[in-house]
Amino acid sequence: MVDKPTMTTSAGAPISDNQNSQTAGPRGPVLLQDFHLLEKLAHQNRERIPERVVHAKGWGAFGTLTITHDISKYTRAKVFSEVGKKTDILLRFSTVAGEMGAADAERDVRGFALKFYTEEGNWDLVGNNTPVFFVRDPLKFPDFIHTQKRHPKTNLRSKTAMWDFWSQSPESLHQITTLFSDRGLPVAPMYMNGYGSHTYSFWNDAGERYWVKFHFKTLQGHRTHTNAEAEKVIGASRESYQEALYGGIDRGEFPKWRVEVQIMPEMDADKTPYNPFDLTKVWPHADYPQIEVGVLELNRNADNYFAEIEQAAFSPSNVVPGIGHSPDKMLQARIFSYADAHRYRLGTHYEALPVNQPKVPVHHYHKDGAMRFMPNNPNSDAYYEPNSFGGAVEDSSVKEPPLRLTGDADRFNHREGNDDYSQPRALWNLFDDDHKRRLYANYAAAMDGVPDEIIARQLAHFEKIHPDYAAGVKAARAELAGNAHKADAISDNESAGV
Ligand code: NDP
Ligand code: HEM
Repeated sequence: MVDKPTMTTSAGAPISDNQNSQTAGPRGPVLLQDFHLLEKLAHQNRERIPERVVHAKGWGAFGTLTITHDISKYTRAKVFSEVGKKTDILLRFSTVAGEMGAADAERDVRGFALKFYTEEGNWDLVGNNTPVFFVRDPLKFPDFIHTQKRHPKTNLRSKTAMWDFWSQSPESLHQITTLFSDRGLPVAPMYMNGYGSHTYSFWNDAGERYWVKFHFKTLQGHRTHTNAEAEKVIGASRESYQEALYGGIDRGEFPKWRVEVQIMPEMDADKTPYNPFDLTKVWPHADYPQIEVGVLELNRNADNYFAEIEQAAFSPSNVVPGIGHSPDKMLQARIFSYADAHRYRLGTHYEALPVNQPKVPVHHYHKDGAMRFMPNNPNSDAYYEPNSFGGAVEDSSVKEPPLRLTGDADRFNHREGNDDYSQPRALWNLFDDDHKRRLYANYAAAMDGVPDEIIARQLAHFEKIHPDYAAGVKAARAELAGNAHKADAISDNESAGV
């Protein structure tokens, strides 16, 4: 017989009966003094917290980053300090638009959020499975997300809203070409790449800054679903990603990614024909080749999904000495947005939760607030700064080199003189004919029922990428309409008994 512990209230008192409420007589009613019942019901009412406003549905696991190549001439970050160095990581994947209960195998961009528990504090790289994004100015982010979420009246997702927004935002062309291509619907998280997407910076011991992009290349190979395959998968299971990721790791199949960086010397930023801080652009590999850095491996499932994956808080504001930000406007907005979201979603002391806690001692002078549970510093007189009692002090040796900035403060039109067509064209040129046909068919399905003037506006953008691109989408729309017409005729005939 297993020696079972005695069940207790949350205050630790033993429970005598967990089967029968306390009632006045065997037929009830229940007594208000049955605190055990009240506590159970009250706790149940508090089991849900706000879901992430975006990227609500997610799957995650823990693992390791192992450095295989020396890049310490670019960055002083200790995570990259020597070949063979290992750092613990957490990686959470997600879809963007769906809510917590959404099906996994939906066409959408996937989040690729990394937390590196480094010896200099947590470094978070909160990226996606695409190297670019839909918009390049953060003022447009809430509008864009509104078009992806539910319509306020119908409470349904609206194809019209999506295409209305995209057709008036040509900077989205690069990202939607990816989204509606094969890689827009991976089979499971192991079969897709991750990208830091933004331009970040590296800085070294000599105080030299380099611009950097991060890439995580799947070593499992790319595997994707067509729309038709995904419909079947969702019919059988809405949790196909959780099953594949959790199940794989549980069986000892540990997915891996090759970590690469592209490095741009600081002054090159003035010379590139594109703005290297524009999130809708990649840096062509021919100009800035990939440099291998290490391997990322996932090898441990969370023991408690809610505590370790749902309560995980990733923020682009979390950088460590040797890694910095860039003038990318989107990145600048994200430096604010995430920690703000965490204080709302998880509470003031979210960084003290075990999953978010740095694996190094923290010494700050923030004080109190809801659910403060951390002990005082051992030196309790040093609760302000500066103090004369040996409290923690700043360290000027980790000062980031100055960020060069130019120009007047203004609201500059980011669409003026910006080439939104060449890089989507380069991507489209990578697709073979069958892939292009699937791209066009995916567009046709996603555009079904959208008003003509919006479609015309979008087709004009596709035309500027390439006339064949627009022609392909038009042909796919005509085929879809023809098929629907035929299907209507068949069902009319069937109901007429023909
Ligand atoms: P390259 O030929 O050197 O690189 C092509 C890149 O495209 C590779 O990273 C490859 O990723 C990726 N790729 C290949 N097939 C597909 C596909 N079916 N869907 C999405 N991505 C694919 O060319 P450039 O660097 O000059 O870039 C050309 C275009 O490739 C860009 O405009 C961009 O759209 C796309 N791309 C570029 C990236 C970059 O950082 N330069 C990154 C990702 C895409 P993989 O190695 O995984 O096959
Ligand atoms: C999640 C805001 C752009 C990737 C979130 C969350 C917010 C947010 C508020 C929820 C955070 C939480 O509750 O924990 C923004 C804003 C953006 C922006 C304001 C632009 C101005 C981007 C971009 C990327 C990205 C460009 C990728 C390159 C993610 C990911 C998550 C996320 C992966 C989920 C993180 C996790 O797994 O917990 N975003 N976002 N976002 N965002 Fe963004």
